[in-house]
Amino acid sequence: MTGTYEVASVEETWELARKLAAELKPGDIVCLEGDLGAGKTTFTQGLAAALGVAGRVTSPTFCIVQEHRGNGAFLVHMDLYRLHDEDDVLAIGWEDYLTDGAILVVEWPERAGSLIPASARHIRFTHLDDNCNVRSIDINP
Ligand SMILES: Nc1ncnc2c1ncn2[C@@H]1O[C@H](COP(=O)(O)OP(=O)(O)OP(=O)(O)O)[C@@H](O)[C@H]1O
Ligand SMILES: [Mg+2]
Repeated sequence: MTGTYEVASVEETWELARKLAAELKPGDIVCLEGDLGAGKTTFTQGLAAALGVAGRVTSPTFCIVQEHRGNGAFLVHMDLYRLHDEDDVLAIGWEDYLTDGAILVVEWPERAGSLIPASARHIRFTHLDDNCNVRSIDINP
């Protein structure tokens, strides 16, 4: 699925994530781009719920990577915010995660630079108005 969607609540963000989750397969990489608080982790929580992950999906900022298992799905959630460059990203075992059959969701993919393959999906989150909950979510192939 592609396109630009406006979501006015966390529930609507989850609903969009659920639709995208139906298209994801092992090995897919999903890059979540956008400012602090734009809704990247919230979207990942929706993906995880749709994939049958039972536990809570929290922001992985401090541990960088969290692994979740769902209904036959293996979801790896990374937040690269605290890393600086490609060497840092390689040091956390980036290549191992690529070969593991995981669905890899990456917040702050900018830090990984050219390590992000051309086949990755990109989703851009924009906080439309600081005073309300409306976000724009732009999904590209
Ligand atoms: N429509 C919406 N979609 C998603 N989150 C929303 C929405 N409206 C309000 N929020 C709130 O905005 C916040 C989004 O935070 P979230 O942790 O998902 O952002 P993030 O992009 O992961 O930030 P970071 O870069 O710091 O990891 C949450 O507190 C959530 O409840
Ligand atoms: Mg986050």
